[in-house]
Amino acid sequence: MKIPNDPFIGTHYIGKEELKAVKQVIKSKSLFRYHGPKLLYKTDEFEENMKKYLGVKYVLACSNGGSAIKLCCIANGIGPGDEVLMSPFTFIASASSVLACGAVPKFVDIDEAMNIDPNEIEKNIGPNTKAILAIHMQGQPCDMTKIMKIAKKHNLIVIEDTAQAFGAQVGNKKAGTIGECGAFSLQAGKTITAGEGGFIATNNPKIYELAKMYHDNGGYRVGSNYPTWEKGNTIFGENFKITELQSAIANEQLKKIDKILQHQKDNYDYLIERIDKNFYKIRPNISDGKLVHSSIAIIFNNQEECERFIKYMNDNGIGFNIYCSNLINQFDTFKYKNSWHKSKFPYNISNYQETKCPKAQSLFRRVAWFSLSSSLKRKHLKYIIQKLEEYKNEF
Ligand SMILES: Cc1ncc(COP(=O)(O)O)c(C=O)c1O
Repeated sequence: MKIPNDPFIGTHYIGKEELKAVKQVIKSKSLFRYHGPKLLYKTDEFEENMKKYLGVKYVLACSNGGSAIKLCCIANGIGPGDEVLMSPFTFIASASSVLACGAVPKFVDIDEAMNIDPNEIEKNIGPNTKAILAIHMQGQPCDMTKIMKIAKKHNLIVIEDTAQAFGAQVGNKKAGTIGECGAFSLQAGKTITAGEGGFIATNNPKIYELAKMYHDNGGYRVGSNYPTWEKGNTIFGENFKITELQSAIANEQLKKIDKILQHQKDNYDYLIERIDKNFYKIRPNISDGKLVHSSIAIIFNNQEECERFIKYMNDNGIGFNIYCSNLINQFDTFKYKNSWHKSKFPYNISNYQETKCPKAQSLFRRVAWFSLSSSLKRKHLKYIIQKLEEYKNEF
């Protein structure tokens, strides 16, 4: 049986609502968020709806999740000379966005849930540490209570990389709304999507204003007027603006969020209830809240067992795999401080230091992940359980 094997969650919900919204924008011939012949203000609408959903004062839509992280860093004054603590068990964009501000990541080991380990954070705080990037890996929030406590004690900024966890909760707060600001992605594999896109969420008006300026070439824009770069507080910036087409799609996707999250949870629960937990060790849920069930992760004793399991599953059409080719601190980008510039910017300015992350190193190649595609049907789930049973009996 061919088992759906894709990480596209929101993508599978794209339907007639998104099509209608996109057609409206096309007909309006107003694809730019700030003005056009008959602007529909889809981006403003998306930001308003997202503020309500997240329970925050400010949301700024932008071009993607990476630019959202960069905007969070910039709006918090993170730049050359600064270090940002983060886990190496993530997608490289979490670190690239920090490098793009002239700061460098300092990689900190992970906890059993495969998020940054709060107990390792304090050991890694140095004179240049400015912030913690709490990356909520594969739908499970970091231990935000401990992280916020440490940040307060050491006067550090907390930015939440919520690209993989939109819709998750910590206590009664939405992931991405606990630190100074949260960065989110609308890329095709995320809980809701516009193909590409992103947004930031914050309760701090200064962070919002600065991020808004930076994302609009550093200018100061009132309403839909042309921006000025002459007001005293304008800065240099880049163009990280979202389009009306993306916002129109994201708006429709947001209306479907409860249904999307419930479907992911139902599929996850179906599998978890039937997997023999005496044989299979599942990624533990140590967070105090609700997860986004984007994947299922099985932990093995060693790499050989994990590889044998992955091969068996792949041979049977089930796409388990390790998370990605390497931990990001092992990529050449960091090992050799590779940069487009001969000065090795920004490693030269911010003094990137290699750190050891033995738990991440040990876990990385012995965890088998399976993305819970939202197109999985009950028959697929039954088949997966059957193959898990067969594997267990064979080995
Ligand atoms: C943890 C994490 N951070 C950041 C990003 C970057 O998001 P985007 O692809 O929208 O730039 C991703 C995207 O996959 C991600 O998984």
